[in-house]
Amino acid sequence: MLPCHIAIIMDGNGRWARARKLPRVAGHRAGMKTLRTIVHHAINIGLKWLTLYAFSSENWSRPADEVQCLLSLLKLFIYHDLTKLHANNVRVHVIGNRSNLAKDIIALLHQAEMLTEKNTGLDLVVAFNYGSRNEIVRAVRKIAIDIISGKITGDDITDTLLASYLDTAKIPDPDLIIRTSGEMRLSNFLLWQAAYSEFSFVPCFWPDFSVSDFEETVASFYARERRFGNLKRSDSIREVAL
Ligand code: IPE
Ligand code: IPE
Ligand code: MG
Repeated sequence: MLPCHIAIIMDGNGRWARARKLPRVAGHRAGMKTLRTIVHHAINIGLKWLTLYAFSSENWSRPADEVQCLLSLLKLFIYHDLTKLHANNVRVHVIGNRSNLAKDIIALLHQAEMLTEKNTGLDLVVAFNYGSRNEIVRAVRKIAIDIISGKITGDDITDTLLASYLDTAKIPDPDLIIRTSGEMRLSNFLLWQAAYSEFSFVPCFWPDFSVSDFEETVASFYARERRFGNLKRSDSIREVAL
């Protein structure tokens, strides 16, 4: 069975470009092609949830022209691909902090979510201006406001309640998190939600990540035994027998 939710940290665009003596923005453009290929593959295989880390809350610290390129690519993706995604029954969700984004981008993100909200195929989550610590801080602030207004009390705070205040409130935790480019870190991605995720760190740069790399990674997920703090199935049967 397919994992229900795959999340991808699409990393290595800059190094892909450097290896070809191209500017970093050429890497981002090439990365966009891979993104389209993987989204369409996810639609074809009937994956339920796919989350893509497109721009982190820390990526603003990059040179202005690179940030501009990444923002333009997001806009282009929505302008050009939204109709096709909608026709393919894809529902678009966006997670991340919208408060400091330009008005035209906020409007586009909203448009993508509204247009596709009744779709029932792939749920495509775009993590844009996303940082997990910021997400948790925003959630805690909202909880504080609800405590002050008397809507909830301190005793109501449980992990389920906190999760319901996150951007990912209605999104299942990722089963598998893939990161390309050989880096083995989360870079502020889904820190809360990844508590029991499986990880795959793939050596190739994102623009080189192919459908067969994707398939291979998913195949390796099947071989894993997820225990969620419990024992291996065979071990618990043996314990009962003893
Ligand atoms: C990932 O590629 C894309 C974003 C972070 C938006 P990078 O731009 O991080 O590429 P490297 O890691 O520098 O090679
Ligand atoms: C993570 O990659 C963010 C995205 C893929 C959007 P980065 O390239 O920004 O992460 P670091 O700086 O290598 O940790
Ligand atoms: Mg990177």
